[in-house]
Amino acid sequence: MKQIRVFAPATVANVACGFDVLGFALNEPGDEVIMQTNDSEEVTISKIIGDDGKLPLNANKNTAGVVVKQYLEHIGSKQGIDIQLQKRMPLGSGLGSSAASAVASLFAVNELLGSPLTRQELLPFAMEGERIACGAAHADNVAPALLGGFVLVRSYAPLDVVSIPFPKDLVATVVHPQIEIRTEDARSILKKSILLKDAIQQWGNIGGLIAGLIQEDYALIKRSLQDVIIEPVRSLLIPSFDKVKKAALDSGALGCSISGSGPSIFALSTSLATAGEIASAMRKELKMIGIDCDVYISPINKVGPRVISNNESSFAARSGYATTSA
Ligand code: HSE
Repeated sequence: MKQIRVFAPATVANVACGFDVLGFALNEPGDEVIMQTNDSEEVTISKIIGDDGKLPLNANKNTAGVVVKQYLEHIGSKQGIDIQLQKRMPLGSGLGSSAASAVASLFAVNELLGSPLTRQELLPFAMEGERIACGAAHADNVAPALLGGFVLVRSYAPLDVVSIPFPKDLVATVVHPQIEIRTEDARSILKKSILLKDAIQQWGNIGGLIAGLIQEDYALIKRSLQDVIIEPVRSLLIPSFDKVKKAALDSGALGCSISGSGPSIFALSTSLATAGEIASAMRKELKMIGIDCDVYISPINKVGPRVISNNESSFAARSGYATTSA
């Protein structure tokens, strides 16, 4: 019996102008899985911590269970697997919670079985997890969660993802107002068609943002972090969004927008000190309307998922996790 413990990071999808095509990974928060092989020929989820009982333990209904099953079927393995999932970020927060669980699980099972697939090859399985979670197999959370850094989804059919170099000083501030927005709902309110003049602005900005990241041109990044299509609609779901955004920009943010489908709001800046000032200013605005928030300040995650421990059977006892077997 082999055991592995893996961390996969939270992610900020869309990054203002890149709806469904751009995302980046954070160092914190993230999800952890402890995965064990057994002789059962089944995939089971024996424990989930940190979800307030909201996620199903049924492996056929849980993103983590489904992606592992699809992976095993693809590689033709009947290996029995038990998953213990530790949610270390809020659900429905716009931080790629389902993506982190799917990526941690896929990375863990692939490591346990001797890494038959590359990270790029794991991506389509992780995307299927998103389909289960929100009805759309978008890749802008799972791709950065799996590859680290900034990742552009150049095309979905065929799937073509590109890692984008970025300035090393970039820091993200993310505030999570304690309200829940389901991605499925936040997608359903979007218009199905857009004006050509808005499309022109948006693709100018996404091109500018990518160029700014590669050239480490902060002024260009700042000019480009604008979303004229999605943010005007979704921001209506987030109380005081405009004030929180203004507070971030007034405190030195390069840009500020909705993280993924919200309600989290992210800002980018060029130092930890500025990121802290931005966080305080954003939190203050939310506090004024009686909304508490979680705050995360993180440099951009460069590595994606990582193994925390391998074959460390004593961890189960130490952490309070149940040790399971077939
Ligand atoms: N691109 C997706 C959306 C991300 O905005 O719906 C969801 O986190």
